Amino acid sequence: MAEIASVRQQFASLINASPSEIAILPNISSTLAAISSSLDLGPGNQVVTTALDFPTVAHHFLAKERLGVKTTIIQSADRIKIDPDQFERAISPDTALVVTSHVYYSSGYAQDVGPIVDMAHQNGALAMIDDYQSTGQMPINVKELDIDILVSGGMKWLLGGPGIAFMYVKEDLVENLSPTVTGWFANRDQFDFNPNEIVFRDDAGRFETGTPPVASIFAGAEGLRFVNEIGPQAIRERTKAITGRLVGRLKDEGFKLRAPDDLDHHASITMVEMKDPALAVQELAKRDIIVDNRPGAVRFSPYFYNSFDDIDTAVSALCEIREALEL
Ligand SMILES: Cc1ncc(COP(=O)(O)O)c(C=O)c1O
Repeated sequence: MAEIASVRQQFASLINASPSEIAILPNISSTLAAISSSLDLGPGNQVVTTALDFPTVAHHFLAKERLGVKTTIIQSADRIKIDPDQFERAISPDTALVVTSHVYYSSGYAQDVGPIVDMAHQNGALAMIDDYQSTGQMPINVKELDIDILVSGGMKWLLGGPGIAFMYVKEDLVENLSPTVTGWFANRDQFDFNPNEIVFRDDAGRFETGTPPVASIFAGAEGLRFVNEIGPQAIRERTKAITGRLVGRLKDEGFKLRAPDDLDHHASITMVEMKDPALAVQELAKRDIIVDNRPGAVRFSPYFYNSFDDIDTAVSALCEIREALEL
């Protein structure tokens, strides 16, 4: 329990929230289940998201079609970003919730979430930000941006591994939202073991369900300690320089990137289009260069612990692989 309190505190301070605004769940999909069950979504309610967001978001709301919920998925012309006016056109007074990422997993584009949050609020909707591909590698301040709900987790830039996700819910919202996806950890008097009533906790812990992923919480706490110690601002300065180097080297070698033009909007995710990205990932792994692939592209995600030498080595290896295997 002490470790849970510590991890909650560490995540809260990273995004400028209070620990009482943080729920801990095992993955992002569970956070979506808990929060959307509190919103009583039904006929006449629209949810707006985008094709660049991680598919679990759209899947979650598309499954609610049978409850009458309409999900609008904004498409991207360049597969890199969504223009703010596309959000403007999609969001309407029927919108109950807008869900989008700070950084798109699919392109590394870091979008300005402030205007999107404002558009949601002007239409009486809530704004939920999927910060999984951003928290740790870029600063975020939930209060300054007036974000209603923010989700993130351990498996990416928080260096904690799988099994732990965080959900920030703005203090004013917490007591007005009662989940139907719930369990005994949401109960204020949890250790009374009284099956006859449920009284939700006063804080965001009311969005939790059952026994938390304890092993992942220990790993998550250690990762967060590194990130908080260095600080996302310093991390961003470092990864921006590394990303600049990576982009420069890849372009010099004639690779086609699916990436933002401007480094200010380019987080530390760089997509390199290739004919057989899965094979390129396997070949790089043989050389101890660990990257991943997503449809049509190899994804490089260097972090603060990488050096410029690592970048040069990775790009040279990719050139060799392209030539040897005609990728
Ligand atoms: C932005 C983003 N959201 C969500 C997820 C995953 O969701 P879950 O934790 O439910 O597996 C990922 C990738 O794993 C992601 O990149």
